[in-house]
Amino acid sequence: MGFKSRVRKYLNKKIERYDHKIIKIEPPGDEHSEPLISPENSKTELPEEAQNYLKPDNSRLQDLEMRYASFDQKVTTPLVWTDGTVQPDDLKYFRGDNAYVWQLRGDNMSTMSYVLTSYYVKSADKLGIYEKLEEDGLFGAVTLRVDNKVISRDLLDSIIEINFLERHLNLSNLKDVSVLDIGAGYGRLAHRMTSALPNIKNYLCTDGVAVSTFISEYHLRFRGLEDRTTVIPLDQIEKILSQRSIDLAVNIHSFSECHISAIEWWLSLLAKSRVTHLIIAPNAFKNGGRLMLTKDGQDFGEVIEKYGYKLVAQDPKYSDPAVQEWAVNPTYYYLFQLQS
Ligand SMILES: C[S@@+](CC[C@H](N)C(=O)[O-])C[C@H]1O[C@@H](n2cnc3c(N)ncnc32)[C@H](O)[C@@H]1O
Repeated sequence: MGFKSRVRKYLNKKIERYDHKIIKIEPPGDEHSEPLISPENSKTELPEEAQNYLKPDNSRLQDLEMRYASFDQKVTTPLVWTDGTVQPDDLKYFRGDNAYVWQLRGDNMSTMSYVLTSYYVKSADKLGIYEKLEEDGLFGAVTLRVDNKVISRDLLDSIIEINFLERHLNLSNLKDVSVLDIGAGYGRLAHRMTSALPNIKNYLCTDGVAVSTFISEYHLRFRGLEDRTTVIPLDQIEKILSQRSIDLAVNIHSFSECHISAIEWWLSLLAKSRVTHLIIAPNAFKNGGRLMLTKDGQDFGEVIEKYGYKLVAQDPKYSDPAVQEWAVNPTYYYLFQLQS
């Protein structure tokens, strides 16, 4: 018996006659933090072409890796995304629980939290895209069936992010929107936003990591979205942005994984290209996303303002504080607008 238990026993003997008892309170949520049960999760379902294409020795991937290796190191020196962050298995199962989207790790990744998040998203989705978008579980996504619908973190986060933009930018009513996603991962939000909103005319994905560019190219081609999405390799992004205008830049859980020097590089490019709006989702770390921090504890909010962007909205991921405490991976969303 430990010291605390002995003290409790001793005090209980003393107060028993007053009908009182000291009991140990378990931290709330222990029952909520059980490992996620994902009966529908499968790593076997892979299109045959993916088996053949998504390999470390693919010549397209090797070409991108060579080009990124000789690019400006201010952008490419990794803070988090060192070699080996994406393992050969992650190449094929890029939608699995890996560095792109944690699905079994991090805050509130229990079955209960996924169920809560699903019902929340259904009730908060002003755009009605929860009904429209589907989860096929391909490429290793962790899925659950809730309310007779297959859900994943990819699906739920995307719906919440799109609704944040709807609330503050009236996104679905803008005409011919051009989006630039910096650190676009496997093209999660590109896939969801173009599937949800027909007015997204062009969704550009770019990245500081060659393998992410390679995977997003494959993924968006696989989804048949080449007409409205374009993956731009890092060494072409400046040229492309000098030729076309972008309404909205997106950075979801990416700047938190970059050095400040890389964030400076991206912000200077956005300001030079007169990109009007920028949405950011920082990693929550220990502050719940109330601060915009990099993994090494630097505040990158200051960098964004330094380049002329002013904060115009800041919302918790979930509008109900109770849901923000218990739902999947809570953080904050920030919207910035370039000052003229
Ligand atoms: C956690 S993933 C998020 C992916 C995606 N935004 C999403 O939410 O699904 C972080 C992304 O940041 C990218 N990244 C890492 N370092 C970068 C850099 N220096 N510049 C741009 N993107 C970077 C990674 O390649 C990866 O795509």
